[in-house]
Amino acid sequence: MSSSMTAPSPNGVRQPGQTESADRTLDPQPILELRGLRAGYGAIEVLHGIDLTVLAGGIFAVLGPNGAGKSTLLKVIAGLHPASSGTITMAGREVNRARPDDLARSGLCLIPEGRGVFPNLTVEENLRLITHLGARASEIEERTYAQFPQLADRRKQLAGTMSGGEQQMLALARCVATDPGLLLIDELSMGLAPRIVETLYELVAEIARSGVTVIAVEQFARTILGIASSAVVITTGRVVMAGRPDQVESELSGLYLGNVAD
Ligand SMILES: Nc1ncnc2c1ncn2[C@@H]1O[C@H](COP(=O)(O)OP(=O)(O)OP(=O)(O)O)[C@@H](O)[C@H]1O
Ligand SMILES: [Mg+2]
Repeated sequence: MSSSMTAPSPNGVRQPGQTESADRTLDPQPILELRGLRAGYGAIEVLHGIDLTVLAGGIFAVLGPNGAGKSTLLKVIAGLHPASSGTITMAGREVNRARPDDLARSGLCLIPEGRGVFPNLTVEENLRLITHLGARASEIEERTYAQFPQLADRRKQLAGTMSGGEQQMLALARCVATDPGLLLIDELSMGLAPRIVETLYELVAEIARSGVTVIAVEQFARTILGIASSAVVITTGRVVMAGRPDQVESELSGLYLGNVAD
């Protein structure tokens, strides 16, 4: 594997703006750049040349109808599905063929579609599974329960027996405990009541304020656009609009007949 194919060094996608005390007057730098990204399944191409620039800091919303290729896009970024052509650059380094575990070690965390937890393990065990990324189990648990007190009450409970909202909270907590620079979230809202979705996105906004860049794929367009710093709309594997959340929101109903209402 040549150096251009390796993942960024540890802290590669962690940005200087990540700490509360960091100087936020500096212009944000791109944390992720996609150029001409194509991917598919077998002979069927699903992403037809995606160009995107995500600046460090804030929440970047990815909207679009069912089957547009949003989940495929996140899988390709996370190294879980190969791009057929194009480039992926994270914090200035090309990572096209980087392995998912290398990307995770360098500060990328994905919450996949569905519930990103192990249902047959307890909350505590779900948290312990991320110790391979470096931190000690006791540290992870201490920090997690301080930030997500609701999970402390559930530490001995099997994740699969918790409510959908609590499972997504655990998925968020697992990612946060890896100290990510870039957090990818695929439809956090799936199957959840609007009130729970609002609460979860308040947590996501808090995580973003702590310096983590978030890319969130979402069907609840208004909720995510309310906290996003920029947004794109993807339909049938192409970016059809990119801009400020208010601009995107006003164009949304004309771009696709998806579930734009909350
Ligand atoms: N494992 C797979 N094998 C073959 N085709 C797939 C596979 N996964 C997805 N696809 C197809 O690729 C296209 C894009 O799917 P993808 O899941 O990326 O869309 P999406 O925008 O995330 O949709 P949704 O909003 O329903 O989650 C769809 O046509 C889908 O049927
Ligand atoms: Mg999807």
